[in-house]
Amino acid sequence: MLESRIRHTGLRSRVVTAEEAQQWIQDGMTIGVSGFTKSGDAKAVLQALVNRVRETGEQLSINLYSGASLGETDALLAMHHVVARRLPYQSDSVLRKQINLGGVGYTDQHLSHTAELIRSGYLGEIDLAIIEATCITEDGGIVPTTSVGNSPIFVEKAKRVIVEINETIPEAFEGVHDIYQPESRPNRSPIPITQVRDRIGTTYIPCDPDKIVGIVFTRLQDTPSNIVEPDAETERMAGYILDFLSHEVRYGRLPQNLAPLQSGVGSVSNAVLSGLATAPFENLEIYTEVMQDAVFELFDAGKVSFASACSFSLSKRMVERVTSSISQYKDKMILRPQEISNHPEVVRRLGVIAMNTALEVDIYGNVNSTHVSGTRMMNGIGGSGDFARNAGLTIFVTKSVAKDGRISSVVPFVTHVDHTEHDVDVLVTEQGIADLRGLTPRERAKAIIQNLAHPCYRDELLDYFKRASARGGHTPHLLEEALSWHQRFAETGDMRKAQPQLVHEHAL
Ligand code: COA
Repeated sequence: MLESRIRHTGLRSRVVTAEEAQQWIQDGMTIGVSGFTKSGDAKAVLQALVNRVRETGEQLSINLYSGASLGETDALLAMHHVVARRLPYQSDSVLRKQINLGGVGYTDQHLSHTAELIRSGYLGEIDLAIIEATCITEDGGIVPTTSVGNSPIFVEKAKRVIVEINETIPEAFEGVHDIYQPESRPNRSPIPITQVRDRIGTTYIPCDPDKIVGIVFTRLQDTPSNIVEPDAETERMAGYILDFLSHEVRYGRLPQNLAPLQSGVGSVSNAVLSGLATAPFENLEIYTEVMQDAVFELFDAGKVSFASACSFSLSKRMVERVTSSISQYKDKMILRPQEISNHPEVVRRLGVIAMNTALEVDIYGNVNSTHVSGTRMMNGIGGSGDFARNAGLTIFVTKSVAKDGRISSVVPFVTHVDHTEHDVDVLVTEQGIADLRGLTPRERAKAIIQNLAHPCYRDELLDYFKRASARGGHTPHLLEEALSWHQRFAETGDMRKAQPQLVHEHAL
């Protein structure tokens, strides 16, 4: 085991326990860890750190940078107030609460940006990197596990590195990854990806062996993702998108195998991918950030020929299936650093079809994906902006109402803008689909209100739009009323002026 998992002979003497390794962590450090959507995250050393804080009562806080969300470790660290600053993405309820109380400083970033900011020195020094690995190569190279995320830049810039070798990950994972780091500016070459399946780097993260101060063996597994099963509404939304894509093929605007697909987190994206299993498209390719269960189901159905991502995001059942039969999928996929999986240059070149989820949209097509009522952070922008801005076709989905109809997800004006009207091509709710390409703001407003709003809110939106239009302007608004729906919700717990039962009366 030791020989095959640590092939660099000089490093074998650096094996330590997680309890020993956590002693290198000191108050105020900035630590970069592997981990993306709860996959491939460094678990053992951080959990040992939590135990130290719990047992000693020590006041210790760190700046924690990762690829994206960690598994249960994010919750444990938050519960014990170990994190002072966090970036670039999270999805844990305990951490979210602390962020919204102001106890944890959170920088919500486009996920392709973090590596560039670290490379440029804007985020300060990385004191320590903790990286989960399948094995270490003869030269000290680190072979990641179920995600790559930001690990390459953390390893490059960290003063010291701890490697967590996860014995539950089969050694056959070696060969899945493709590690490439853009050159320094100003003379950077283009990223040489012209096809989803292009391999442009190494299968390991290069690392100076002298930086590796400790190697921990662990058997802690990734926290599985909760897969939300499709309901009637998400299936209907998936149906609209699949019909729309067929329409685009018929009109020659997309090839028969579509363009490489990106699908974000959320139940509609999953339902769309699942729907592709029976749709008339073959030889599909995926160029995305996370590979969910549905991607592996599409491999098995022979529908997807290749997939590129920076991480898995799998249910417990699928984790077991993929880890035990990784050799079967290895020649069909690549895991890349997130700055490459989400890179604007590549996303634009490939003409990716991007599907992401909104919390709310406004009548002109601006999208809020992150802030509930404009103030409370939900998860973060993640990679949605990387893709939305640069994709060949950008689709956002949301149910037309939330909280049993008390909130309209189509509003006069969004309370926070993550994706501007300029980046949004198509919007979808369970009510319908609106193709906004080439439309003026007034045309967009009509399409959004008529096709997407819940009947219960449609008339009031139309009334707002008509009165605003009468006042004039390229993008008409009644500024004194633009956020009044949110104000009403804050005061009464309901955006509706009318009686609550109307939602049920009008429900499809
Ligand atoms: N106002 C207030 N709350 C709203 C809302 C609105 N307009 N719309 C939805 N919500 C609430 C829901 O009621 C639900 O609340 P609950 O947790 O109390 O049940 C919660 O927000 C999540 O909504 P849900 O419909 O379950 O959405 P989801 O699981 O599909 O996630 C996002 C939606 C936007 C939170 C999620 O997609 C996200 O984090 N996106 C940003 C990152 C991203 O896109 N990453 C992928 C890029 S590759």
